[in-house]
Amino acid sequence: MSSTASGGAKPTVTITLDGSNRSATLPLLSGSIGPQTVDIRKLYGELGIFTYDPGYGATASCESKITYIDGDAGVLLYRGYPIEQLAEKSDFIEVAYLLLEGELPNATQLDEFRKNVTYHTMLHEQIRRFFDGFRRDAHPMAILCGVVGALAAFYHDNLDINDARQREIAAFRLIAKVPTIAAWAYKYSIGQPFMYPRNDLSYAENFLYMLNAVPAEPWKNNPILSRAMDRILVLHADHEQNASTSTVRLAGSTGANPFACIAAGIAALWGPSHGGANEAVLKMLAEIGTPENIPQFIREVKDKNSHTKLMGFGHRVYKNFDPRAKIMKETCHEVLAELGIKDEPLLDMAMEMERIALEDDYFVSRKLYPNVDFYSGIILKAMGIPTSMFTVLFAVARTVGWVSQWKELIEDPSQRIGRPRQIYSGATQRDYVPVSGR
Ligand code: CMC
Repeated sequence: MSSTASGGAKPTVTITLDGSNRSATLPLLSGSIGPQTVDIRKLYGELGIFTYDPGYGATASCESKITYIDGDAGVLLYRGYPIEQLAEKSDFIEVAYLLLEGELPNATQLDEFRKNVTYHTMLHEQIRRFFDGFRRDAHPMAILCGVVGALAAFYHDNLDINDARQREIAAFRLIAKVPTIAAWAYKYSIGQPFMYPRNDLSYAENFLYMLNAVPAEPWKNNPILSRAMDRILVLHADHEQNASTSTVRLAGSTGANPFACIAAGIAALWGPSHGGANEAVLKMLAEIGTPENIPQFIREVKDKNSHTKLMGFGHRVYKNFDPRAKIMKETCHEVLAELGIKDEPLLDMAMEMERIALEDDYFVSRKLYPNVDFYSGIILKAMGIPTSMFTVLFAVARTVGWVSQWKELIEDPSQRIGRPRQIYSGATQRDYVPVSGR
């Protein structure tokens, strides 16, 4: 394979099949930042060969203007803005506007956007009845996945994906209603009455209200907790073409309605390698129990036969600190200090684990660093959020990213149904043998 670009000509890559005189010259594409990318669309037609990249470690599945990650430098940008600046200076609704629309809103746009989201926070009253169909001990992710998919059965008036206004309303409905469904999934699991959304509160405050308030008592907003919740939502809002976002895009590429696509994303997020890791980190820390047991746990992680992973560590793209993990760690300290929690054994354990892992050659040589999930569970626990809600909360935040990516996909004139190919290694053609002859 060779690459050329001279005298203003567009750069190309030439692939030659060994042992033959056949070759294909393919365009080399450039984004605004990031590595150059070989456009292989003509490769099969010209040489009759596929490319093979299970896990898509080196494959760009789409062109996107939304989020950029430099995994070696530990950089994350939403629409060009560094995550650190957004986490410190912005808020979730403004970030949602930015992700969806591409630019930061002016005051009027922001106000209108906020109103549009709050206008849609309630659920159709019949949706309440869905919850009764779930077992009382159902995991809230199972409920979230089912109820979000079922929204398509209620909001028929915005299912035409080719109508920009209907797409916009579907986006508002999803961003507004997912927190209500998420909070109700939790309330259902603990047998408390559902709390209806309050549009006088901010997005994060309203979510905390629906989770924690009860009709029998007045509810008081704790600005420290709602600010921390808002920051957690900002940090999780988008992360380019991760597994759940790619699932949303793949489902969207078939023309499926937005509610079905987001439900597919929620299902993909649930796995412990992805959004389920925040819950898994807390379970891991609880199982290890005390810092003295950490070295033994690390030995187990390093043993290939044990299948034990250090949850909250490692990332497909980040080969450096996940910038979100740094902010999470700081927020964790802030929240604990402001809540007056002087001694949190889980945080001590997590910091000791991080220290040991970052000095251990196994993790150093594989460039395994803490990811966003390593500290988020500890903050959420300190905020009184139950463990089973951690991944649900991730889904609430990521809905904005999924919807933005889905919208971008539908508005991209070059989009086609996603349909990967394979290396077939099964039996070659053979004749059917009746059971008596087998
Ligand atoms: N603990 C122990 N070993 C690990 C870990 C870990 N957490 N992560 C990767 N490795 C090892 C892996 O076994 C492999 O070793 P070897 O080269 O000897 O076979 C090497 O590091 C490379 O890992 P990989 O499996 O090729 O990495 P990947 O890019 O396929 O997987 C990952 C990425 C995030 C799934 C993985 O690091 C992992 O399972 N981490 C724990 C789960 C977790 O925290 N997930 C949250 C990710 S961030 C938030 C999100 O995406 O939702």
